[in-house]
This record gives sequence, C-alpha cells and structure tokens, in this order.
Amino acid sequence: MHIREIKDKIYAVGANHWDRRLFDELIPLPDGTSYNSYLIIGTEKTALIDAVDPSKEKELIENLNKLNIKKIDYVISNHAEQDHSGGIPKVLETFPMAKVVTNPKCKDFLIDLLLIPEERFIEINDNDTLSLGNRTFQFIIAPWVHWPETMLTYLKEENILFPCDLFGSHLATSDLYAVDEAKVYESAKRYYAEIMMPFRKNIQKHLERLKEFKIDIIAPSHGPVYNKPEFILNAYKDWTSDNVKNEIVFAYVSMHRSVEKMAEYFIDALMKRNIAVKPFNLTKTDIGELAMALVDTATIVIGTPTVLTGPHPAAVYAAYLCNALRPKVKFASIIGSYGWGGKMPEKLQELLSNLDIELIPPVIAKGYPRQKDFLALEELAENILKKHREIGVA
Ligand code: FEO
Repeated sequence: MHIREIKDKIYAVGANHWDRRLFDELIPLPDGTSYNSYLIIGTEKTALIDAVDPSKEKELIENLNKLNIKKIDYVISNHAEQDHSGGIPKVLETFPMAKVVTNPKCKDFLIDLLLIPEERFIEINDNDTLSLGNRTFQFIIAPWVHWPETMLTYLKEENILFPCDLFGSHLATSDLYAVDEAKVYESAKRYYAEIMMPFRKNIQKHLERLKEFKIDIIAPSHGPVYNKPEFILNAYKDWTSDNVKNEIVFAYVSMHRSVEKMAEYFIDALMKRNIAVKPFNLTKTDIGELAMALVDTATIVIGTPTVLTGPHPAAVYAAYLCNALRPKVKFASIIGSYGWGGKMPEKLQELLSNLDIELIPPVIAKGYPRQKDFLALEELAENILKKHREIGVA
C-alpha cells in the first residue's frame, strides 16, 4: 500500500487486502480489509505500531525500505492476533536490534503463536510510558477488545490513539481518513457487531477511561484513520449503550413454504404496527448483515420448520450466532411448523441461554398455517408492540 504521512515522521505503512472475502474462515468481508501499521520516528528512537497479516509482510518491509529505515528500536504489539502480529517475526529478522514492546499477557501469546524468543521482548504495564526522544507513548491496558491481552497505545505529544482492533472497520479504501462517513459507519458497525459486541460491557468501561485523554486522531489497525474522532467515539457510545430500538430481527428458514407463509404474514403484521422489521432468509443471508442488525434490535424472532425433532440447522446456526454475539436484545420469540412432533421451540430456547431475554410465547403451526395460526401471529405482533411500549421504544 502506498505510504501515507499522518504527521511529520508519522507514517501509515501497512497494507490493504482489497480482495479478501472471508476472515477467520467465518466473517464475510464485502469490502476487503486493511492491516494498518504505523511508523513513528522520534529524535532518538523509532517505533513500529502493529505489524500486518503474514500474507502482506512483504509490503510492510518494502514500505520501510522505501522510507530508507535502517533501524527500528521498538515494535509495539497492541494485540497478538496474527492479522497484526503475523508480520512481527519478519520485522525482527530484518531489524535485528528491534525489541517487541507489549504487556506480559500479549508477550505470552506472541511466544506461543509465533515462537518469538523471550529475549526479544520489553514488557510494559498499564500507564507505563516509552520515550522516542521528542515523542512519548503511554500504554493503556484494555482487556477483551476482543482478546484478553489487548491494549491501546497513546502518543502524548500528538494526541494520537492507536487502538488496534477497537474502532476498526473491515474496509479496504484508498482514503487515509474516514471521509466517506456513511460508508465507514456501516463498515465500522458491521465490524463492531462481528468482533466487539460480545464485549460490550468491557468496551463501555474503556470508553469511560478514554475520556481522560485528549484525542485528536484515532488510528486503528483496520480501515481508515479518524481525524474527527468524535464520529467513531459517538457511534461506539451509541452501540455499546443499553438502549435498543423499535426493531425486530427476524431470522427464518422454510422448507415447504409453511414458515415462509407465516413469515410473510408476520412481517406485514409488524409493519402494520410501525415496528421496523429486518427479515433474513437464512439460506440467502450474509451473516455480517444479520450481526449488524442485532446491534440495536429490541427483539429477535427465529422462524424454522421442525427437522428431525429439532430446529432446521440454519436456524440453529443463527441462534448460536445470536447467543455468541450477546446483543443487548430484550425479547425473543419463535415461529415455526411441525409435521408430527418434536421439541423445536425448547431446543431453540436452550441455544439462546446467554441472552437476558423475556420469551414471548411462540407460534407453532401443525403443517401449513391456517386461520388460527394467522390470528396467533397477529397476537404475537401485538404482544411485541406492547413489550416495546413498556420499555419506551414504541
Ligand atoms: Fe484484527 Fe483481533 O485482530
């Protein structure tokens, strides 16, 4: 990636991965991603903050060569996951004098994951500082963003926060800064939903602590840099708050059109009551879109036929995902069908055990839905509206 100067002798030297379409063999990347790495040159020492994914380490080294960098003293590792740390061994090999600066937990991970020798580390702890001469870093230990060892690095003289994954977005772009705010908002929200949402309560605390710092620039390790930090700080404040919206995420799958017919009726019943409904046909949906919709929703409804006495595997996957992502959802329900029996609703309910939800009575049709089932769906929509009114969102 083309080198960009953020301030005098502070450069973005990482790489865009324009055509990567899957992360962790799980997360869709409709807009690719970037692995940002930052070079900060002081009057006495030079530091690199985070490296890149191993697939792009050649680009990182080329960028350092283009800048004619002969010496790196410190490689600051904010997070041990390989998309930021995988290039560190190559940097250490190229710059034999360099030491990895990180906290003890991250050091342990880097030794285990990348087999970096112990003598290459300098350990730091919360609030410790590191001087480059005219420039000083302060380290902020911020566990569970989204691993237990994560930390943020603050450059005091320039008021720049380097938070690694936090505030990031899977967005490959030629823009250094987040100029297309609508696009960046979507990408950052998707990223928050997929990666950060299970750690919402921890992030609330970290946001509170960041109020101690004057921040002019936020330079994350994925996606564009924020030169108007309040844009992403306000978005995170909203996403991590306890507030939900008058919305329903409706994730469903149908085999022989019974659930599909119920879904059509149910969506209309919600629309009639001015409840925003986000339907996801699970055979066609992008799970990132589903995750993003979970950020603000007050209610989740899962629709499924009964397969071998339980929910359809696509519904199991959706329920498992919702449970793992731990959205701040307040209510849940189930609609579905069966032919001759089974424990589909009970099994789905078990899969949502992490969520602090009130279950609104499910609507389950025997075979193709009849008039009584449509009336029950009408009642379900009415019950959801009542619940949303009770919490003041409708
Ligand atoms: Fe971008 Fe947790 O790595």
